[in-house]
Amino acid sequence: MSEAQFPGKIVVKSAREQVTEYVADLLESIVSEAVAKRGLCSMALAGGTTPHALYRLLAGRVAGGRTPWQDVDIYFGDERDVPHDHVESNFHMAQRTLLDHVPVDPGRVYPMPADYGDDLKAAARRYEQLIHEKVPAGNSGIPGFDLILLGVGGDGHTASLFPFTDALDETERLVVSHFVPVLGRRRMTFTFPLINAARNVVVLVTGEDKAETVAALLGYDREARHRLPIARAHPADGNLVMAVDAAAARMTGLKV
Ligand code: 6PG
Repeated sequence: MSEAQFPGKIVVKSAREQVTEYVADLLESIVSEAVAKRGLCSMALAGGTTPHALYRLLAGRVAGGRTPWQDVDIYFGDERDVPHDHVESNFHMAQRTLLDHVPVDPGRVYPMPADYGDDLKAAARRYEQLIHEKVPAGNSGIPGFDLILLGVGGDGHTASLFPFTDALDETERLVVSHFVPVLGRRRMTFTFPLINAARNVVVLVTGEDKAETVAALLGYDREARHRLPIARAHPADGNLVMAVDAAAARMTGLKV
């Protein structure tokens, strides 16, 4: 899959700061358009470390008042099996870097219940039910998020959809919890049926440590690409944008 075959738009910026600015601008325009058209924006945040700079940038822009945060419903694309006040929690990270600093309605922020002891599967079903109730369905009948923000791990995982796990092939459930052998931990995650029903999927990838993964995703080695879960992100009726900095694009030949 070269740039021409990638099922979406690839944006390369020289520095991490610039690609973060780009994604912040894109996110703000998606939110504003959703709220203008439908009165609300359903947004799923990514975890990990890459979004820290993006969330902090968005928080810093709040004085400009450009984003109607009060009309945004916040969800999480995945979560670790820890309490929401745990340092490893994606919710905790988003709260510290973004949600505590923007005027979202706390009653419209929906952390993933990934620390429900042994009934994680029941908790995943409850989160899926919540999404069915609150996120308007798209053309496919599946709830269509206005925006799902994703990161990519070095092994090509995205959300908590890791290589060689059954969750990659889930076709019915929209949210699952599963044991991830490579981590030795359980995770809760959106599945590709939900990701690929979104109006906008934005993938933010930065740093030298992702260069091999981005090169494999855009490369001509079909096997190498198919081993990357992120290669399955392909919204049926939505927009896919992958925003990378030059460090992550170093091995692709893509030009800034
Ligand atoms: C998580 C994330 C995960 C993340 C990738 C990249 O819970 O860890 O949701 O999918 O996006 O692991 O992580 P970094 O941004 O830390 O490289």
